[in-house]
Amino acid sequence: MRDVAAAAASTGPRVLPRNDPRQYDDLAGEWWRPDGAFAMLHWLAEARAALVPPASRPDALLVDLGCGAGLLAPHLAGKGYRHVGVDLTRSALVQAAGHGVRVIQADVTAVPLADGCADVVSAGELLEHVPAWPRAVAEACRLLRPGGLLVLDTLNDTALARLVAVRIAERLPTVPRGIHDPRLFVDARALVAECARHGVELRLRGIRPQVGGLVTWLLRRARAARTPGAASPTGRAPRIVPTRSTAVLYQGRGVRNG
Ligand SMILES: C[S@@+](CC[C@H](N)C(=O)[O-])C[C@H]1O[C@@H](n2cnc3c(N)ncnc32)[C@H](O)[C@@H]1O
Repeated sequence: MRDVAAAAASTGPRVLPRNDPRQYDDLAGEWWRPDGAFAMLHWLAEARAALVPPASRPDALLVDLGCGAGLLAPHLAGKGYRHVGVDLTRSALVQAAGHGVRVIQADVTAVPLADGCADVVSAGELLEHVPAWPRAVAEACRLLRPGGLLVLDTLNDTALARLVAVRIAERLPTVPRGIHDPRLFVDARALVAECARHGVELRLRGIRPQVGGLVTWLLRRARAARTPGAASPTGRAPRIVPTRSTAVLYQGRGVRNG
C-alpha cells in the first residue's frame, strides 16, 4: 500500500487520499439512497440497532459517534431514546438533523458532552476511520453511565479484511473507492483490551451480508445500471447476519461497569 494512496471518490471529481473526510462531502448525495454508495451502511445500521434494547427510563440518551447522515435514526424509532449524533462532517450532520438527530459537530476523540451522560453509545463504522481510535474508545466509555451499553461495528486489522473490504469491496458498488485506509483497521483483541481498560467488557461477533441477498442486490443494481433512466430498483436490502469469524467485519457489545 502506498503511503498516501491516491484514490478517487467514486462519484466525485476530486482525487483525495484514502480516508480523507472530504470524501463524505463529495458523496453527500449518496447517504440516503438505499442502493447508493453507502447502501451497506444502511444494512449495518439496521443490524446495529438490533443490539439496542428499548430505553429503560424516560429521557434516555443515545450518543451516536460518527453518526454521518443519521442512518441509525429510522431503526431506533419507537425505542424511546433521544438520539444525539456527533460527527466532523457538516454536510452529513445537516442530513442527520433532517432525520430527527440532534447534532454536534465535533471530533469523536474530544466530545463536548458530560461524563456518564449516555445510556447507549454507538460507534458504527467509525473506529476504522479514526487514526487515534483508542482515544475515541476512551471517549465512548467516558460518555457511558454505569450500566450503559456500547455498541459498535468495525473492520478488523487482518490481511483478509484488507483483501475483502478494500481490494474486493471497492470493485463492487458496496463500498466507495478510497473510503478506507486499511492501515487504520482495528485489531479486535486490542479493541477488547482498550474497552476493558475503560470499564467496558466488550463481546464480539463476526458479521457479514447474507450471501443470497447480496448477490440478488448486486444483480438488481447491475441491471438498473444497464437501463439508464429506469426507476430506482426496489426490493429487500441484504440482511447482515452473524458469522463465526471476526476476521473481516465485526460487531461489539458491552456494558459499562458500575
Ligand atoms: C463510514 S461513515 C459511518 C457513518 C455512520 N456511523 C453510519 O454507519 O451510517 C464514518 C463517519 O465518521 C465520521 N468521522 C470520521 N472520523 C471522525 C472523527 N475523528 N470525529 C468525528 N467524526 C468522524 C465521518 O465524517 C463519517 O460521517
